[in-house]
Amino acid sequence: MTTPTIPLFLDCDTGVDDALALAYLLDVPHVDLVGIGTVSGNIDSTTAAVNTTALLGMCGRSVPVAVGAHDPLGGVYGGGAPHVHGVNGVGGVDLPAGVAAAEDPAAELLVQSARSYAAAGSDRKLDVLAIGPLTNLAVALELEPRLPELIGTLTIMGGAVWAPGNVSPVAEANVHNDAEAARRVLTAGFDLVLVPLDVTRQHRFDDADGDRFIAAGDPLRVALGTMLHRYIDFYETVDHVRRAPLHDPLAAAIAAGEVEPTVRETPLDVMVDGAEHGRTVPAAQGPVVQVVVGADEAAADVIRNRILQLDAVHA
Ligand code: BDR
Ligand code: CA
Repeated sequence: MTTPTIPLFLDCDTGVDDALALAYLLDVPHVDLVGIGTVSGNIDSTTAAVNTTALLGMCGRSVPVAVGAHDPLGGVYGGGAPHVHGVNGVGGVDLPAGVAAAEDPAAELLVQSARSYAAAGSDRKLDVLAIGPLTNLAVALELEPRLPELIGTLTIMGGAVWAPGNVSPVAEANVHNDAEAARRVLTAGFDLVLVPLDVTRQHRFDDADGDRFIAAGDPLRVALGTMLHRYIDFYETVDHVRRAPLHDPLAAAIAAGEVEPTVRETPLDVMVDGAEHGRTVPAAQGPVVQVVVGADEAAADVIRNRILQLDAVHA
């Protein structure tokens, strides 16, 4: 039996683990990546688009990439995470020039794609995978309040529900970077799977993975392996082990249906004020979210194998 094709829109802040997630997704035969939006997070949204188009070019692939929000809702972009992802978002690795981004901003491209896949005659609705701050999703909700009905499943890498945060004792980076947007999206009534730090810290790549990618010898995998080593350098300073969490790749593998999640269902709220800014907390009422708290032990193998076998340009 063949797996049905998933039309998928990716929203990202490319980013080392975003780059690994993209490479993984490009190898999944039943995922049809129909559009990509970028948002400021690890790096500004324009550079995130440059990184994304460069990576696509290194695989000889063409997907519309639309630049999204530069600033969070009601705030100003804080400058990213160069200590984690390097000054260019991809570990300081020089990537070849990408192609031009799409003309429509990310939120518009998302809404248009959602409408077209929800229209009569389409086989199935669009799924969405968000692996950066949720600004573009919140803007898309403003543009199209029926978005939760128009799309299939929204999978989000973000939050720390029953686990500690990574940018504060209680907050995870993607939610912290635009807590107001996260609050709107998490309470909007999407069919929503949240992949938080609770599970992403349990699945990791190590230096041997970086070495394997580099040994493949082509420009894409050499770049991914090099940035992975640098990403691990950062995680060694905080976790005291040379192994980096697969935040975004794990969310991608769950969205693609290749990794089985264990979930707990709960409504969620997001704290937007004070010391708890960006905390994702179980709520007494509201739309239920599937919070992923565990995943197949083989998740890292699934992701590694796809990145290793992806058809890339051997220039
Ligand atoms: C998330 O924040 C970003 O730094 C990563 O790309 C990931 O999406 C982890 O907290
Ligand atoms: Ca990310």
